[in-house]
Amino acid sequence: MNPSLFRLDAKTALVTGAAAGLGAGIAVALARQGADVALAVRPGGTPPDETLQRAQAFGRRVLAVEMDVRHLASVQAGAQAVLEALGAVDILVNNAGINRPAFALEVTEANWDDQFNTNVKGGFFLAQQLAPGMIKRGWGRVIWISSQAGVVGIPGQPVYCATKGAVNQLVHTLAVEWAQHGITVNAVCPTFVETALTRERLRRPEFREFVLRKIPAGKLAQVEDVASAVVYLASEEAGMVNGHTLMVDGGWTVW
Ligand SMILES: NC(=O)c1ccc[n+]([C@@H]2O[C@H](COP(=O)([O-])OP(=O)(O)OC[C@H]3O[C@@H](n4cnc5c(N)ncnc54)[C@H](O)[C@@H]3O)[C@@H](O)[C@H]2O)c1
Repeated sequence: MNPSLFRLDAKTALVTGAAAGLGAGIAVALARQGADVALAVRPGGTPPDETLQRAQAFGRRVLAVEMDVRHLASVQAGAQAVLEALGAVDILVNNAGINRPAFALEVTEANWDDQFNTNVKGGFFLAQQLAPGMIKRGWGRVIWISSQAGVVGIPGQPVYCATKGAVNQLVHTLAVEWAQHGITVNAVCPTFVETALTRERLRRPEFREFVLRKIPAGKLAQVEDVASAVVYLASEEAGMVNGHTLMVDGGWTVW
């Protein structure tokens, strides 16, 4: 995208699950647009060194903090560490997420809890931690990386689809609650992007063929497609876009 559009100079951002995949691309794009960025990474997960380097190349303040979004204490401690380091968080990107495919008859309680705690609970409580500062400053952006799976069913992924549907409903409700404070709350809903989350499934020819047949554009989305949508929603220009679930799906969900 043209970096002179949708500038984020003097803004501060926090991206969860930012060590690799979509989160890394989003964090780098936010830094490129002028924001200082905190990378929240899962303890024991992929080290954020490469993303740190890529984001720091734009001359912004970039730091990494550990945060396990499933646990409120870890979310609180991580949010506090970022607020101390950056002074404020204007833009929150709730990107951390997991997908543990299992057909409905095989879903266990642990599978359910792990997906809901990571995909729904974590982002909600992080937004709850950071919203008071946004309210005080009268400006904020909360952006969830949801999924097309929050809008359509995908066989073998009932729990993942339910978590993303729940995320979309949080977006609608928080948008309505916080609009009066100058905060917008939106979601980006990507189709399949090749990352650690999907690579193994997309390697199976029959699954890849099913996916490509479902996307009218005939191709997977790229990390940059998702990052560009986040940059737009974070920008001043998107100030009247609120409670929106922005499909970045090449048309999967409209037929
Ligand atoms: N790749 C796709 O096709 C696709 C499509 C639609 C939506 N999404 C969503 O995009 C987001 C990013 O996915 P991705 O494709 O980059 O996958 P990924 O596996 O590369 O990244 C997910 C990130 O979340 C982090 N994470 C997982 N559990 C965590 C926890 N408990 N605490 C903190 N961080 C945790 C991981 O460490 C990882 O960095 C997810 O929410 C996913 O549901 C992905």
